[in-house]
Amino acid sequence: MSEKTLIFLKPAAVERGLVGEIISRFERKGLKIKALKMMQMSRETAEEFYSIHRGKPFFEELIETITGRDIVAAVLEGREAIKVVRTLVGATDPVKAAPGTIRGDFGLDITDNLIHASDSQESFEREVKILFPELF
Ligand code: CMP
Repeated sequence: MSEKTLIFLKPAAVERGLVGEIISRFERKGLKIKALKMMQMSRETAEEFYSIHRGKPFFEELIETITGRDIVAAVLEGREAIKVVRTLVGATDPVKAAPGTIRGDFGLDITDNLIHASDSQESFEREVKILFPELF
C-alpha cells in the first residue's frame, strides 16, 4: 500500500553538498517527491520536533546542531515508504550503519547524522505538521 514519510537532510548534508546525492537515491528507488523545501528550524520548532528526546544526554547538542542552519525537508511517497526510507537511511549511529546506506556511506557523526526519517505512521503525521504546516 502506498504511504508517505517525512525526511529532512540535516545541516551537515546540506553544507557538504550531499543534497542531490541523497535525494536522488530516493528517486532511483522509485519514491515520489510530494513536497520539498529548504528551511531553517527555530529552537522552538526543533524542541517540539524532538520532544520525545527531551532529557536525554544528547538533546541539547542535537537542538543546537539542527537550529539556525539550512536543512532540506521532504515528503516522500511510495509502497511501504516509511520502512523503505528507514532501510535506505541506515542505523542511527553511522559507525553501525551498513555500507550502501546513506549514513553508512557518507557520515561518521552520530548527532549530525545527515538525515532524519519518520520511524512510524504516527511519527510521520506528527512531524509533517511541524515541518509542513502549509500543507494543512
Ligand atoms: P534522528 O533519527 O534524527 O533522531 C534523533 C537524533 O538524535 C538522531 O537522529 C541523532 O541525530 C541524535 N542523537 C545523538 N546521539 C544519539 C544517541 N546516542 N542515540 C540516538 N540519537 C542520537
